[in-house]
Amino acid sequence: MKVLSGGFQGISRCMAHLRSGGILAIPTETVYGLAAIATQPEAVSKIFAAKERPSFDPLIVHIPQGWGFLKKLDELGITDSSVLGLEARTSAEKLMRRFWPGPLTLVLPRGAKIPDLVTSGLSTVGIRMPRHTLAQDLLKHLQEPLAAPSANRFGRISPTSSSAVIAELGDRVPIVLEGGPCEVGLESTIVHIAPDGSARLLRPGGLAREKIEAELGRALLAPEARQLSTAELAPGMLASHYAPRKRLVLFSRHTLDPSHLAVASRGVMWLSPPPDSRMPGVVLSESGSLEEMARVLFATLRKLDNEPAISEIWAEAPSSDQGLGAAIHDRLRRASAPKALEPSQG
Ligand code: TXA
Ligand code: MG
Repeated sequence: MKVLSGGFQGISRCMAHLRSGGILAIPTETVYGLAAIATQPEAVSKIFAAKERPSFDPLIVHIPQGWGFLKKLDELGITDSSVLGLEARTSAEKLMRRFWPGPLTLVLPRGAKIPDLVTSGLSTVGIRMPRHTLAQDLLKHLQEPLAAPSANRFGRISPTSSSAVIAELGDRVPIVLEGGPCEVGLESTIVHIAPDGSARLLRPGGLAREKIEAELGRALLAPEARQLSTAELAPGMLASHYAPRKRLVLFSRHTLDPSHLAVASRGVMWLSPPPDSRMPGVVLSESGSLEEMARVLFATLRKLDNEPAISEIWAEAPSSDQGLGAAIHDRLRRASAPKALEPSQG
């Protein structure tokens, strides 16, 4: 895999590669993505092959700044907002204006230019405007939508650096655009806007649900795993996802028996400093900042997973699901789930 830096030359080479039907890894503020031009089904199929991703799992379409309006997205054939009622249109545009570019994916009615492969045949499409400068440089010059899932093998931890992309995909991908460590570190929050205007949280992520609810002036509906067919299950809803290879055990600082941590082969990960400074383990944020925990969570899990002396990871669960705590908790819960592809219970 070749590592290209931004700037005129790097971006030009990425553009040429994408236009000729290639795939490459790009940085975003959430996690690195594996991108192809969304309107080229053959290029998109290479993403599924490289990731070993099942075809029932739809991809997110990334768009350049300037496309964040339903009218524009309709014109480009990315969405078809004619099926949306007034409240749905208003909600969608409000969220676009407030949170794009940034870690929010909106699931909207799909337009005619988006191939079946991208949406796994669903009538909706997930759209996101990333705010990473290099991702935007590329999108802005390309003026094409980029389909991009996280740049990891299916079911594994998302990469938050170019070296993690290389560790995940190696020579399956010819190019990675070097964009430094990801600023958010968790995948985007996914919200489905239904024609009747109801807004449902499909995946907690790098944008706190409270901020979305404040902007909409109402609560987001909870994901309803039971009502979705397999084809509609976001991978975020597969029980075992975002998983290290080693067994991961979740613990609460309030109920923990400290003797459990004293086993040398256990790699311990604290979200904030432990109650007793003599307790072993790495600490994600000395100051207890959820943003900082989110930023280093995946990189730390990856490191513990690669540490030969450790056979089991013990990870602290957030004590509250407020703010980014919800997404951190969600990813840790899934990382600790048995590794079978079963829908989770919520
Ligand atoms: O932050 C992110 O979202 C990163 C970066 C690269 O943008 N991308 C990412 O993609 O996390 P991926 O493929 O790992 O997860 C995309 C999620 C999946 O859970 C997929 O099912 C869901 O988006 N999704 C995409 N289109 C959807 C749709 N039409 N309806 C419901 N869920 C959808
Ligand atoms: Mg993923």
